[in-house]
Amino acid sequence: MKTSFYNQTFVLGVTGGIAIYKSCELIRLLKKNGAIVHVVMTKSATELIKPSVFQALSGKHVYTSMWNDITEFSMPHIHLSRDASAIIVAPSTANFMAKIANGIADDLLSTLCLARNVPLLVAPSMNVEMWNNPATQRNYQNLLKDGVVILEPCSGSQACGDNGPGRMLEPETVISYLRENFSDTFKAKIKHKVLNNKTVLVTAGPTYEAIDPIRGITNRSSGKLGYAIAETAKKAGAKVFLVSGPVSIGDVPSVHIENVESAAQMLRKVRKILKEEIVDIFFSVAAVADWTPKKFVKTKIKKNSSTDLKDINWIETKDILLEVASNTKESRPFVVGFAAETKSGKFLLNACQKKLEAKKADMIIGTNGPDTFGQDKAHMLICSPGQPSTNIEGTKTQIASQLIQLIQKQINQKNEN
Ligand code: CTP
Repeated sequence: MKTSFYNQTFVLGVTGGIAIYKSCELIRLLKKNGAIVHVVMTKSATELIKPSVFQALSGKHVYTSMWNDITEFSMPHIHLSRDASAIIVAPSTANFMAKIANGIADDLLSTLCLARNVPLLVAPSMNVEMWNNPATQRNYQNLLKDGVVILEPCSGSQACGDNGPGRMLEPETVISYLRENFSDTFKAKIKHKVLNNKTVLVTAGPTYEAIDPIRGITNRSSGKLGYAIAETAKKAGAKVFLVSGPVSIGDVPSVHIENVESAAQMLRKVRKILKEEIVDIFFSVAAVADWTPKKFVKTKIKKNSSTDLKDINWIETKDILLEVASNTKESRPFVVGFAAETKSGKFLLNACQKKLEAKKADMIIGTNGPDTFGQDKAHMLICSPGQPSTNIEGTKTQIASQLIQLIQKQINQKNEN
């Protein structure tokens, strides 16, 4: 039986991060899936694990230097990657990210990255403070701009005892990404990617409007549909930005995720992205709170204090969807809104049609909220101006996929007219 990466070559760059043990498993899985793996280690990586371990696992010579390796490649910094499907740096330290973000080529691996003509995938691994440091975030943004695929680190407890983002993705997750993007079946499909060269912005999840440090109002949106849309759009070839309210879903590889809490923060991030990027499709999936307390009370409101919960003044939040859809410039994206109601049938259809007009959207997708929130499957009603409404149902990923096809078709039709 043919395996996912039958006869494909990957260069695996290994730097000196504590997640280096995951590279061993990654090699094993790549090989199990039929790939040929050339390992290139930085000097720090060799301080943590001996090259002989990687040699045994890959069954190939392991490259550690520009100068000492006598191998089949006379100029390994150029030729090693020429037959490869991609260079994967996993784990990548903050230092290594900084080097490649700035075009520094002072060892074999960084020189290989600079001299490559194949995709570069980077799986960061570092302490949460290092990851959050503005310098690393700057380098991260620059790498994304340079077209480097960042296999976003996940959150969790770290070797140093801290907790937060910075953990390298699990080898199985890296393999799933590679399978989606480099397997033979994928290669056959790549030419037909619907969202190639497109930029997509998605809002997802609920918002949380804080009343005091202890309490706030939120809603039952799980974020599953928004995340499924972001992931599917990424797989369909788009550059994807996801502005997410508080959810308990893992990050989506290679999607730029901005985590926010309140409606106001969500609006600010959406504005910022729209200012910096030309967005082709905006999916307003988030269940944004319609109301927020006028004033945040800095200490807990006690039962018998002078401030009473029932005296709180509420102000309306800005409608993000309406603001984006009201843009009259040529840069206005195709705008997709959602309507979570508590009834189906005619009521839902009516609500969608009203929202289509009120929100100036190109499409409104209606659903019965209680039947959908938190579920893996859903039933959706699609309404677009001047078109008969249609129903779709399935898993949220299937829905995302159908929506993307449909929207792209509508965009193409618009462009033809
Ligand atoms: N929406 C938004 N900003 C808001 C409120 C809603 O972007 N402040 C967007 C949602 O992301 C969704 C659409 O508007 O795409 C409809 O949201 P929904 O809560 O169903 O409708 P509302 O406009 O809030 O109206 P109502 O609550 O009266 O149904």
